[in-house]
Parts: sequence; structure tokens; C-alpha cells
Amino acid sequence: MSTTAEILEETASTTAEGPAKPVTIGAEAYISEDYARAERDKLWTKVWQQVGRVEEIPQVGNYLTYDILDESIVVVRTTPDTIRAYYNVCSHRGRRLVDTPDGAKNACGWKTSFVCGFHGWKFNLEGQCTHVRELADWQGELTPERTRLSEIKVDTWGGWVWINLDPHCEPLRDYLEPAASMLDPFELQNMRCRWRKWVAFDCNWKVALEAFNEIYHVDVTHPEFLQFGEFRGWAKAQGKHSNIGYDAPKNLEENKAKLRLGAGADTRISTAQMQVYTWEQVNTNTTRTLVDAALRLADELPEGTPPEKVLKHWLDSARSADVARGVVWPTVDPAHVGKSGTAWQIFPNFQIGHAVNNALCYSARPAGYDPNKCIFEVAVYELFPKGAEPKTEWEYTPVGDPRWLSVLPQDFSNMAAVQRGMKSRGFRGTQPNPYREGAIANLHRNLAQYMGTGQPRRLK
Ligand code: FES
Ligand SMILES: [Fe+2]
Repeated sequence: MSTTAEILEETASTTAEGPAKPVTIGAEAYISEDYARAERDKLWTKVWQQVGRVEEIPQVGNYLTYDILDESIVVVRTTPDTIRAYYNVCSHRGRRLVDTPDGAKNACGWKTSFVCGFHGWKFNLEGQCTHVRELADWQGELTPERTRLSEIKVDTWGGWVWINLDPHCEPLRDYLEPAASMLDPFELQNMRCRWRKWVAFDCNWKVALEAFNEIYHVDVTHPEFLQFGEFRGWAKAQGKHSNIGYDAPKNLEENKAKLRLGAGADTRISTAQMQVYTWEQVNTNTTRTLVDAALRLADELPEGTPPEKVLKHWLDSARSADVARGVVWPTVDPAHVGKSGTAWQIFPNFQIGHAVNNALCYSARPAGYDPNKCIFEVAVYELFPKGAEPKTEWEYTPVGDPRWLSVLPQDFSNMAAVQRGMKSRGFRGTQPNPYREGAIANLHRNLAQYMGTGQPRRLK
């Protein structure tokens, strides 16, 4: 019988000796209402959560809100260099200070102070109460400590604002490692949103995220991609976090990043076809510049150009086309690009799918204490010329809305079906592929530590 530490060790990650050992994960974490309630105190009040972008609050007085379960948080820029975060509640009788819409959409705006709509108590950006009507009635006992807003931890990384409800939490940077150091070269803070949409799913937040944290599903859920090559992927535990990426053919190591060639005899043509399909049917993981550069490949390179030359030419050509319009991609060592993979799962509920010039991010969180409901957000980023960044808003886009195009709805089609299936008495627990779906096992290993529940079990 192995000890928990041994099980953790051998199920944690793929090593030189081979993939991690297989585990099974009980369905409780996905379907139990008690578990969903326990997540509030054991998980959501302990972890760093991404709540928005720094560029959403550029000026002193700009604020945004973030709601999770019963909590609402206000994040506000108080000086050009300082952001602070408060519980969104008036200290008088508990009215929510800034009204927030239902669902994922933030309230955001600009204020010089926050005035409560019930009795008019007023708070400055530093959270101090600056006006109480008929203050003398409290006979001097209403001290600044009793009236100020309750503050919470806030920090920034990657261009995102992060909050943590635990006053004793570790610093954000420490929490994010090694993801932060691996992703820093991609300069995500310079990217801006091209579109962002949110949707409510009839599934647990983990089911929604786990539809995207592995590449194992691509051949079957997205069969149209098979015409462009093989989509085989690895997964690695990275402490609390994980990353995933493509396996590359031995002679084309560079082809394991997100910006990769199509397959077949003529990669000039298949890359262009894959780029156009991706642009038109997913509208992410690429940019107009990359699509156009791929479409030029057949004119610019002779037939029979070896794949590694096609890849280099395509990326160089797109990079210079972007430079010409004032968009400079960071230079990242190809070995580092390969090692960083295609996406990082930041514990517990944020995925960054990074590339040198664009990113696709997913986040999921519970919608109340019903384990069968969640809010899911998709945001697509890229580099823009200064001053030409589009203004975007969170668009509520329900399942079935044609604005999701054709590929993401294929992923969505599994969500409620998995949630329903896992409730069956005949379901014996999730059995993720130890090599390709290791991010699922790692999420549950870390979750179990926060929740104080049993670890994923070895299959045998
Ligand atoms: S509850 Fe806010 S002023 Fe009374
Ligand atoms: Fe998918």
C-alpha cells in the first residue's frame, strides 16, 4: 500500500521514466452540493482570483466589480500606481455599495467617492468613511475603524488584476510560480482584448474548465481539425498549476507551440487552410496578420519547401508585417516557447492559452451553490498598434448563439452531458489519461489539499 506522499509523487507528473500513474477522481467534487458549499470557505476565500484587466481601470477613480458566490468585490485605482480592493458592502447596515448586475458582467465606471444609496454614507477611494449623516448621534463611538470599508488583498500580474480574500495569503507572485516566470517572456500585459463573451453552463465550474485543459478530445469533439494534422498533447503538473502542449514530430521540435503548421505533403497550403478555418470558425488562437501571412505562403515559397522553412518563413513574415503597422512581438527563445506549451491552468479556475502575439483565456466560477451551474468567460487577446486597441465589453452570449461560431459549441456540447452522466450510480469516477489529461489530475490533487478531502486514487 502506497502512502499519500508516494501516490502524490507518482501521479503528479510525466517524468523521464514515462507518464504519471493513472488515477481516478470521485464525482463528489463535481456533483455534491455540500462540496460546492465547502468550496466557499476552503477554496474561494483562500486562492488568488483573476478579476479583470489593468487597462479597464486606467485612471484614478476607475473601478470594477467582481462577484463570486455571496461576495462582491470593488477594485479601484486610488493613485496612478495603486490599486485597492474592498468588500462591496456599506459599513452602516450592509447595503451593497456599488450595485452589480447578475452574472459575470462587471459593473465598472469612474467615481471620486462611493456614496451608499440607503442613508448616504460616503467613502473615499482609500475606503475611509468621509461622511455620516448625524454622526453625533453615535456619541463619539463610531470610530474610523468601525466605518471604513473592509479591505482585501489585490495585486497585478500579466496585465490582470488579482484578488485574494485571505488576509494571510502568500504573495501573488509566489502563488503563480512557476507559471509567472514561464509566461513573463510572452508579455501578456501588453495584449489587449479583441473580444470577450460569457455564458452560463448547466455544469460544474470544473467540468467547464476541463473541457479545455487537455488536447485529448480534439480528434473526436472537433473532427474537422483532423484534416490539418495530428493534435496530440502532453500535460505537466507545475506545482499548483499545470501546462499543456502539443507533441511535435522529432524533426520539427518547433511545431509544438500554438502557432504551428498544418500537416500533409504541402504545409504551405495546409497551414493557410488551417489558419483560415481557425480564424473563421473559432476566431481565436491566431490573428489577421498570421492568417494573411499564411495565405501568402504559396506565392512566396516554392513547392517542396521543407516544413521547418515554411514555419520560419510564415512566422518571420507575419512578424515583419506586424512591425510595419507598429506591433512588435516579444522575442522568445523557441526552446522556451516549446517548453511553455500552449496553455497554463492557473489554480483553480483560470486558463491562459498563450502565444507570442495572442492569447485565449478561459475562466469558470460557480453560479451560487448549485454544483450544476457555472459562469464561464472567454477572452481573446492580441497585440494592437498603440491607440488602435478595440473597446470591448463582456457580451452575454448564450449557448446556441451563432456568435460562438462552430468550434467552441462543439466543446460546449459536452458540458451538460458530462454533468448529467457523472450523477449516474453506474459512474465509477473520472479516469483521466495520465499523459494527456494530467492537468485534470493535478487540479484535483491540489483541490483535495485545499478542501481537506481524499486525494485522487491510484486505479489499481
Ligand atoms: S446602509 Fe449604507 S448608508 Fe445605510
Ligand atoms: Fe475543444
